[in-house]
Amino acid sequence: MTAVEVWWGRTADARPGLVGELTAAEKSRFNAYARDEDKSRFLVGATIVRRVLADKLELSPAAVQLDRTCPDCGRQHGKVTVDGMQLSVSHSGDRIVVAFHPTDAVGIDVELINPAIDPESLASVSLSDLEAAELAAFEPTARARAFTQYWTRKEAVVKATGDGIRADLRKVIVSAPDQPPALREWSEYDGPVRLVDLPAGVEYAAALAILSEHTPEVRSFDAAPLLRS
Ligand SMILES: CC(C)(COP(=O)(O)OP(=O)(O)OC[C@H]1O[C@@H](n2cnc3c(N)ncnc32)[C@H](O)[C@@H]1OP(=O)(O)O)[C@@H](O)C(=O)NCCC(=O)NCCS
Ligand SMILES: [Zn+2]
Repeated sequence: MTAVEVWWGRTADARPGLVGELTAAEKSRFNAYARDEDKSRFLVGATIVRRVLADKLELSPAAVQLDRTCPDCGRQHGKVTVDGMQLSVSHSGDRIVVAFHPTDAVGIDVELINPAIDPESLASVSLSDLEAAELAAFEPTARARAFTQYWTRKEAVVKATGDGIRADLRKVIVSAPDQPPALREWSEYDGPVRLVDLPAGVEYAAALAILSEHTPEVRSFDAAPLLRS
């Protein structure tokens, strides 16, 4: 099976010169973000998407036709799609990550681990009873990371299917953080899915899902050189 390519960028890779490559719809989203860090995350994500696709599809960056139509409201802020490639974007903290696969739908999620979260109250809205009980068995100091690992595994799955936060995450039951990543059960989806945890440093958790019966090989790339030119 063809490998999944995972491209990692940082907010520090954002440069004003990259804004000129955005489409009109992307520029209006970029301008609507109030915080510089949100602008940078969006800009770096959109630029990785366009430049990697231009390379793979042998097009100029301007010729890459992206569609981000939101199924709920029709605006250009939904899952990004393009003919000839499956992809998924995520950003958190100073990290931006994009996954690409030529045929199978992928979902990716990176999250900055916030040690100040209250994992128990978050668990009540996003974990099943089984997962919440498993989480409670972790040492209190390990719970923020453990919760975030559950979260990224679940988000990766619902981003691969395109449901996003419309899915009830309590029903998307994944394996415990100290177990190999897997979707244990989701009554609303009966197709194939494989999960992979991605190394993202001690401050972050990250996971990749692919709608396939085979655990993919993952090839990771640093997007910094791609964003420099
Ligand atoms: C997808 C979603 C789970 C992202 O959550 P998040 O943790 O805040 O953000 P992440 O950084 O991990 O992911 C953001 C990326 O997800 C992608 N995305 C948006 N909707 C998506 C969906 N339904 N499925 C998969 N990916 C989606 C976008 O590419 C976005 O990046 P970009 O806007 O920079 O291109 C969440 O925003 C969602 O479900 N949105 C759709 C539903 C919604 O908000 N509807 C209301 C608008 S009318
Ligand atoms: Zn919308």
